[in-house]
Amino acid sequence: MERILGRVLVIVPTYNERENLPMIAGRLRAALPDAHLLVADDNSPDGTGAIADELAAGDDHIHVLHRPGKQGLGAAYIAGFRWGLAEGFDVVVEMDADGSHKPEELPLLLDALSKGSDLVIGSRWVPGGKVVNWPVSREILSRGANTYARLMLGLPVRDTTAGFRAYRASTLEKIGLDDVESQGYCFQVDLTLRTIRQGLRVVEVPITFVDRAVGASKMSRAVVAEALWRVTLWGLAGLPRRLRRGR
Ligand code: GDD
Ligand code: MN
Repeated sequence: MERILGRVLVIVPTYNERENLPMIAGRLRAALPDAHLLVADDNSPDGTGAIADELAAGDDHIHVLHRPGKQGLGAAYIAGFRWGLAEGFDVVVEMDADGSHKPEELPLLLDALSKGSDLVIGSRWVPGGKVVNWPVSREILSRGANTYARLMLGLPVRDTTAGFRAYRASTLEKIGLDDVESQGYCFQVDLTLRTIRQGLRVVEVPITFVDRAVGASKMSRAVVAEALWRVTLWGLAGLPRRLRRGR
């Protein structure tokens, strides 16, 4: 499959993931031996960056992008995308460091990408998708955010906030990374919207999302607030074109 798709880069953003990074790196290297891993670390106070450097020193398929400080998930991914495009990768994957996204399920995403999609989303909220060990409050938040985003933006996607995805490099080149302003998790919605507005093909495949066993989520009130106001603004800005199209 990688022979059809070309070179695959998996970007894992990290902020205080020292207990998780060696685990996820090992699982990824075992599941997809040809893929490269880029750790995008925001100068984690717990020393995740140094652990990433150690892993990279012992494996030519592991790379590290050191960022000056915590600037949000979106900013870390944009920097990682630029690195991957400059290095000539054909496919760029987003994956969390904490084990919520199973590297063992990545072949399902890549398989769907190879069948002619431009973006494949590993989805919790399509039939067959599952969430394990998530507090009810998080499930309500995720379902609520997705319903709101779908209504406001008219997106034909069930899990627009998902952080487990595979992009063709050509998709990233077409969607205008230069003017992405989203900093937090709404970055995921932002890029979904951009991809669909370019007329590119987005497909969801069911995944099993397992809540982290160690460390803490970086989800915060600020992350939720940014998502709420940005989705609302995008929705209002897009209303005239939706009315013209009738959907
Ligand atoms: N570099 C960097 N900078 N990494 C970050 C930052 C940041 O500011 N914030 C979070 N991360 C990293 C974490 O270290 C982890 O690897 C990944 O991003 C996801 O963060 P979590 O804090 O574990 O997110 P979550 O489990 O609460 O949220 C999940 O659900 C969200 C909503 O559906 C993730 O799958 C998100 O991607 C998703 O948007
Ligand atoms: Mn998590």
